[in-house]
Amino acid sequence: MNPIYVKYDCSSLEAALRECGAGRIFVIYDENVRQFVEEQVLLEALNALDDEESTIEIYEMAVSEEKKSLATVESICQWLLESGADRKSFLLAVGGGITSDMAGFAASIYMRGIRFAYVPTTLLSMVDAAIGGKTGVNFLDYKNMLGTFCEPQFTYIATSALETLPARDFIGGESELIKSFIIENNDEAYERAVKLLPAMTEGANIDELTALIQAAAAVKGGIVTRDFREGGERRKLNLGHTFAHAIEHLARENKADITHGEAVSMGMVMAARLSESLGIAPEGLADSLKADLAACHLPVDCPYTVAQLAGAMGKDKKADGDKVNFVLIRAIGDVTVEKLSLSLPFFNQE
Ligand SMILES: NC(=O)c1ccc[n+]([C@@H]2O[C@H](COP(=O)([O-])OP(=O)(O)OC[C@H]3O[C@@H](n4cnc5c(N)ncnc54)[C@H](O)[C@@H]3O)[C@@H](O)[C@H]2O)c1
Repeated sequence: MNPIYVKYDCSSLEAALRECGAGRIFVIYDENVRQFVEEQVLLEALNALDDEESTIEIYEMAVSEEKKSLATVESICQWLLESGADRKSFLLAVGGGITSDMAGFAASIYMRGIRFAYVPTTLLSMVDAAIGGKTGVNFLDYKNMLGTFCEPQFTYIATSALETLPARDFIGGESELIKSFIIENNDEAYERAVKLLPAMTEGANIDELTALIQAAAAVKGGIVTRDFREGGERRKLNLGHTFAHAIEHLARENKADITHGEAVSMGMVMAARLSESLGIAPEGLADSLKADLAACHLPVDCPYTVAQLAGAMGKDKKADGDKVNFVLIRAIGDVTVEKLSLSLPFFNQE
């Protein structure tokens, strides 16, 4: 696993770039973080250049799930080619998960692969998308259908980037942060997170938030190091996601406005209820998890019935007949993956 730096600002980014001998740097960024790039990233990148003749090329883009496509990756590759990027060039991607997934994909295929690194700017990308080397784009209505496993040289997290992140995006990212600690709860990170996050909107305790981001990044980093290609343990990171993908699918059909992080929050409560119904989790775990997530301003009540969700899950491309993988919760910090039949009584609830 390549380094994950967790800092408040970008003052150590030059050192990180030098450490991996970045060479000629191409910076690609989300238009919504232009100010952060201009004030923090570009100076560091310039300082990291050895050759005085060298320049930095920049590419600003608008991001959305619709634009997370092969066409955008082609445009990125065209920019790299027209600006003279060669095999030794280095791509630095600054933005949320959409930016890193697309830039990483482009870097992994341009000239059969050039080196790249991420500066994630959303909470979700700091603890999840920018770690673990999965890149990709949406294709023919399927999310992340085309992509590669390819690791960045490093991930540089500067928590000051979060200062401009809209509240709804921040709160959505909270569910992935909390998810990490339901999977592994070292140093009571779960308890610390559900104590800190309810107060985040009233004024940040940035040091404690930074420590929690570091802890969550370490959870994902550790799992990915042990299981890069998702043969086993990495599946634990899908906690809440089997339900969440079904919720997002139904929300799209019904034109309802539910973000991924919001769906994951509802999905984790349902995963806890399923775990209780199977006698895997102690009674009361789902209610206490639900109360903790609600206190963090996350939605916890799913607008669809379990039977409706099961209907959507059965049609998912990952379903194996009527069997689907679920991450079940034994206790906070202890989860297990099991393939379950959608004909279980739990999934018939209207
Ligand atoms: N590769 C992986 O392992 C992995 C894991 C999880 C999610 N993902 C992918 O990540 C994507 C979601 O990531 P996301 O939630 O970061 O979404 P995103 O990149 O769309 O960012 C969310 C919104 O915040 C804006 N933004 C980003 N940083 C900002 C900042 N600091 N200030 C102001 N605005 C800012 C963006 O322009 C966007 O409007 C999905 O496409 C998902 O498939 C990938």
